[in-house]
Amino acid sequence: MKETINYIQDRLTTMPEVGLVLGSGLGVLAEEIIDPVIIPYEDIPGFPVSTVEGHAGRLIIGELSGVPVMTMQGRFHYYEGYDMQKITFPIRVMQGLDIKTLIVTNAAGGINLTFTPGTIMLITDHINLMGTNPLIGPNLAQFGPRFPDMTQAYCPRLRAIAQKVAQELGINLREGVYAGLTGPSYETPAEIKFLRAIGADAVGMSTVPEVIVANHGGMKVLGISCITNMAAGVSGQRLNHDEVIETANKVRDNLRSLLLGILNNLR
Ligand code: HPA
Repeated sequence: MKETINYIQDRLTTMPEVGLVLGSGLGVLAEEIIDPVIIPYEDIPGFPVSTVEGHAGRLIIGELSGVPVMTMQGRFHYYEGYDMQKITFPIRVMQGLDIKTLIVTNAAGGINLTFTPGTIMLITDHINLMGTNPLIGPNLAQFGPRFPDMTQAYCPRLRAIAQKVAQELGINLREGVYAGLTGPSYETPAEIKFLRAIGADAVGMSTVPEVIVANHGGMKVLGISCITNMAAGVSGQRLNHDEVIETANKVRDNLRSLLLGILNNLR
């Protein structure tokens, strides 16, 4: 970790204050960053390399909406075969760089029947159904407590800022619970019924490990899901990754305004 942090720090001109993780189809938002320092993941010692389509796989560091940010253009997924520690390593690196705020975005399937493809959902809470946890193993006290509280995993203050900005922009920002599964197969209709019954509004294959580690490290988290498709069995249509990317691309402009507005209101 020290080697990774030194490597990144050596390339920085300003210290990032906010970490931003851009999900499937949302990576282009990083191209707005002014005077970016761009570091491909494969150049960073200790970093895994992203393999999934629609993920560029690089750190882009610079100013966005007046705030110095460290952006992950592409994230690591458990289904790619990395262990939980590898997936969340970039969050630890952010923590090591003294970043206190993390904004995570993802593409997700809509379970809540009042959602439609294109709905933007503010994550209020999550359900970890990955069957594992990135904090399993010896606890390093300098990273965080053995049994971290997850009562406010998604910071109420940040959520209020997001809603205020959405209102100002005329964006209908829905709220809901994100269920995190490993994938890579999409869910069955029976699984979606089950997820709805246990209180999930959206389902995806990321975010949960990163948010657990960020909370462990004392970071404040904001999570936004782009509902790219209705989940299996809801609309009778079959699911595919192309639809996910296509909807994410359509929602991008609203998500972009929302993110820029939120950053602008952080301080
Ligand atoms: N299920 C799981 N993950 C997803 C989905 C989905 O329907 N859409 C986008 N990511």
